[in-house]
Amino acid sequence: MEPGATTGILISIWTQSYNRAPERAISGACLGSTSQQNSTRRARQKTSPTSTSCLAAAPYQNVQTRWRICKPDDSKDASLRLSPATVFVGLNSRSSGRRLHQCADPRRVRNMAGLFRSTALGDLHLTNRIVMAPMTRSRADERGVINSSASEYYAARAGAGLIISEGINVGPMSNAFDRTPGLWTDEQTWGWKAVVDRIHEKGGRIIAQLWHAGRASARGLLSDKQPLSPSGVNDDLDQLQVWALLANGAYVRVAATPSRAMTLAEVQGAVNEFGLAAANAVRAGFDGVEIHGANGYLVHQFLSPAINQRTDEYGGSIEGRSRLLLEIVAAISDVMPRSRIGLRLSPFADYNSTRDPKPEDTYGWLAHWLQTTGLAYLHLADTNAWTGAPDYERMLPIFGEHYRGPLIVNAGITPERADEIVVSGEADAVAFGRLFLANPDLPARIQAGGPYNSPWHFGIYGGSDTGYLDYPSLETVAKD
Ligand SMILES: Cc1cc2nc3c(=O)[nH]c(=O)nc-3n(C[C@H](O)[C@H](O)[C@H](O)COP(=O)(O)O)c2cc1C
Repeated sequence: MEPGATTGILISIWTQSYNRAPERAISGACLGSTSQQNSTRRARQKTSPTSTSCLAAAPYQNVQTRWRICKPDDSKDASLRLSPATVFVGLNSRSSGRRLHQCADPRRVRNMAGLFRSTALGDLHLTNRIVMAPMTRSRADERGVINSSASEYYAARAGAGLIISEGINVGPMSNAFDRTPGLWTDEQTWGWKAVVDRIHEKGGRIIAQLWHAGRASARGLLSDKQPLSPSGVNDDLDQLQVWALLANGAYVRVAATPSRAMTLAEVQGAVNEFGLAAANAVRAGFDGVEIHGANGYLVHQFLSPAINQRTDEYGGSIEGRSRLLLEIVAAISDVMPRSRIGLRLSPFADYNSTRDPKPEDTYGWLAHWLQTTGLAYLHLADTNAWTGAPDYERMLPIFGEHYRGPLIVNAGITPERADEIVVSGEADAVAFGRLFLANPDLPARIQAGGPYNSPWHFGIYGGSDTGYLDYPSLETVAKD
């Protein structure tokens, strides 16, 4: 497909039905839609209103999982056992309306004291080890200003030891999901300040996840500009996750526009954008930042030898492919201490088709570098666990051999397993995504042994406060 080529389906949706401004039209065909949808380190080494032309293919839609405490007979039913794999399978079921009932076996319920011990990740002091994973909710306005409901959404989750914000675009050329917030203008910064202030009032801590989507985007989300990537690899566009909000409220998957290789000046521009966004994070009062180096976005694209085929100093060797990341860390270090900067990586993630034939080499090198760099923490996302194929057991040893610093792990981890992880010293903290999305008072629920709400399939991305502010806490359930 040529840059900017459009196929008929979405264009006709735009022209016939929604009468949207031309710059809001998305380049490409609609692919899918959703209705609103310092511990011992030795241990680590061991171990709707849908468009009819759009078929569902959302990463987190049709979520119908139910959690409850097991009854005695449940142990005979394998489908009811609680494991990371079953949790994931449930949440990603493509069959709409399917419900999986997860249960916590009382014989396996731990006292969870490990998760409630305080800890420090660099200069970030956590009152517990329960971290809220970054989750895009697409509730910013067209200028990338986070909406006022976000204060309530995040404040309700202030019981987390640390909240990692949803991915925040560092500049106007980053946009994989429509209506995601930014942090490069004053307006965007003051929008976030209101959120951060509310969390601090409630005694919580929040850091900003800084995100550049790179090639995972489309012209319609970038003011008709072509997405940027390390070297314009475009043989896998169907696998890129790009989402847009239609005028009728449907949040739909759209085709990625072919990207082009960044010039050296554009690479430098991206580094500067991370630095500026970090400076704005400081102005907004964030407790720190997390660099999004995972899930097939720009930093990960540069790390990948398949996506990064540059022949200049930003490609080739592991040192070259890591240069962008190292320069981003240096730029952010100009505005805050390294002890407030985290890094998220997902060495094995297939998400957004970011292939690496030898992740052990790339990430072994990064582990060495991290050990000497003094960042607040490394956040390892086992992204393939989302599709029921966890890499946890092979991911940890790559880092455990070289890196002894603070570690957060994530993906498909149950509260019980999380407690084991922090007690054994495999990691210092565990990040929960979908459980936190559906349970604003997750720490209280973990302490009480559940029960847990399931995420609803509407309202995941975009839309109103429905599916955003209305998940009940234990307190509200008790009052009802
Ligand atoms: C709705 C939703 C949005 C997400 N957005 C982001 C994001 O902005 N940045 C990111 O690094 N990961 C994002 N993720 C991935 C989560 O951080 C996490 O890795 C994933 O949910 C698996 O963890 P879990 O099994 O505890 O849910 C998102 C996940 C969900 C469910």
